[in-house]
Amino acid sequence: MPPYAFFHKQFMPLSEAKIGILTHALHYGTACFDGIRGNWNQEEEQLFLFRIKDHYQRMHKGCRILKIDLPYSVDELCQLTIELVKKSGYREDVYIRPLAYKSSEAIGVRLHDLEDDFFIIVATLPAYLDAETGVRCCTSSWRRIDDTMIPARGKITGIYVNSALAKTEANARGFDEAILLTHDGHVSEGSGENIFLVLGDKLVTPPSSDNILLGITRDTAIQLAQKELGIETIERSIDRSELYTADEAFFTGTAAHVSPIIEVDERPVGSGGIGKLTKELQQLYFEVIKGKNASYFDWCTPTNSKKVKTTRS
Ligand SMILES: Cc1ncc(COP(=O)(O)O)c(C=O)c1O
Repeated sequence: MPPYAFFHKQFMPLSEAKIGILTHALHYGTACFDGIRGNWNQEEEQLFLFRIKDHYQRMHKGCRILKIDLPYSVDELCQLTIELVKKSGYREDVYIRPLAYKSSEAIGVRLHDLEDDFFIIVATLPAYLDAETGVRCCTSSWRRIDDTMIPARGKITGIYVNSALAKTEANARGFDEAILLTHDGHVSEGSGENIFLVLGDKLVTPPSSDNILLGITRDTAIQLAQKELGIETIERSIDRSELYTADEAFFTGTAAHVSPIIEVDERPVGSGGIGKLTKELQQLYFEVIKGKNASYFDWCTPTNSKKVKTTRS
């Protein structure tokens, strides 16, 4: 089956979905997007879309920041996505990328007096970080861009230049991922992931005021830790040196899942392997996103209506 896109208000083969070279968003980064996982459950022959409503609620907020008119409600966006996934016929994990953008073919930096458009594509995504053996990180020489510059909470395409600079620098230096600090030196996040530290019997993660994207996986980890493991998460600013003294650390993200951080700036985190709590949370998370934990069925939207188990409906 050829890959499909939802583009210009209709479904079409991905190969036919093209934009002009003058498109505003291409020149000025004036778009906002999201990344949603579809997780294949072999026993149920279902692709479950994970927390799709939450992703589209976040996207609506990003569009407000960028003055993009997204002409679909959250429920309509969910329906369009389900239809696209069905049409695409995947029987494996997928990654869904909706993107709303300033579509006018016009030169001139601004947000006003421009047309908007929206598309969704669905694709497979190879493992983003090594969730099994863990991730080696460095703190980046690039600082996380501040809310007063481009708001991180908006998932705005232009802001990802900041992430790309950090990621490429980290890779060139032989690391898997970068950890960006805020301008005043506090830990913010990875290039495409939120970060957690295990300090004693608590989890600690940076607050939204430290220029993070408010991740859906971050929220998932906080809820699973609290409800399933009885572990509280404290949202507070984190010093760089706490990265070096933490018992465990991990990233969370739709692409990255829950990925252990085993080294920061050539110092092992904890024992230098995957920590006990990280492992527990990771196992819980994988169960939940594949629709295998009844307490969290609400987070998993089935895409194959013929196969929905009565216990779910
Ligand atoms: C910069 C950044 N931080 C954090 C995240 C994690 O967010 P989520 O868990 O919603 O995918 C992402 C990925 O979307 C990201 O790009």
